[in-house]
Amino acid sequence: MSETSGWVDFWNRDTSIYVNPRHKMLHYRQVAKDIAALVPGPDAVVLDHGSGEATAADLVAAKCARLYLCDAAPNTRAKIAAQFANDPRIIPVAPEDLSALADDSIDLIVANSVLQYLDDATFDDSLLTWKDKLKPEGRLILADVIPPDVSPVTDAMALLTFAREGGFLIAAGVGLVRTALSDYRKLRGELGLSTHTEAEILARLREHGFTGRRMARNIGHNPARMSFEARKDDSGQ
Ligand SMILES: C[S@@+](CC[C@H](N)C(=O)[O-])C[C@H]1O[C@@H](n2cnc3c(N)ncnc32)[C@H](O)[C@@H]1O
Repeated sequence: MSETSGWVDFWNRDTSIYVNPRHKMLHYRQVAKDIAALVPGPDAVVLDHGSGEATAADLVAAKCARLYLCDAAPNTRAKIAAQFANDPRIIPVAPEDLSALADDSIDLIVANSVLQYLDDATFDDSLLTWKDKLKPEGRLILADVIPPDVSPVTDAMALLTFAREGGFLIAAGVGLVRTALSDYRKLRGELGLSTHTEAEILARLREHGFTGRRMARNIGHNPARMSFEARKDDSGQ
């Protein structure tokens, strides 16, 4: 089993990563607000790659014409389809469906908190697909990228700060202990998480025909992680 399928199997189950329903709601709401702020205009076509359940995707859809939520986990896609059955702007897709989308058709692609679960080959394949599908003037955002020097303790502190502000601090404390004893911890030991330096991401983008830069602020609640924006080299920008 490859690294990616191991992690996808994990995300395909009901995970205990969100310490309670409030955590999950606040998490997806913040991510959706951050993505919505990047949408260039009401006619935009947006791809959220590795979207997870994206329970607040309606906030993004309200700012664009069409929102593809792409996730490798079939159960996650089924949850998206069920939640947004009445919103024709929101379309769940599998990664293998992306090749059927027209080239040069997407204005904004966001991959938030996903690169850590991709092995090198999958990351490269994804960059090739994203380059094909982005419009010449489109924007690719790689967000919540974990630098090699960020420890699980830093992630835990970021969660506790988010929890204190969001009113679920006690649940977060309990959840951290549960995660420490969970299959996430076990899988992290077995499969590892991919980490990347800023220089490596920028070089990787260059190799795939993008010009990138690190953004001032990360998407989501963890300021120790990094976000990047990139445009195709031939975008003329
Ligand atoms: C940590 S979750 C992030 C969810 C969401 N983007 C967020 O910010 O909360 C990672 C998601 O990436 C998905 N995933 C992992 N590998 C993928 C791949 N190769 N293509 C698409 N989705 C993938 C997993 O199924 C999981 O839902």
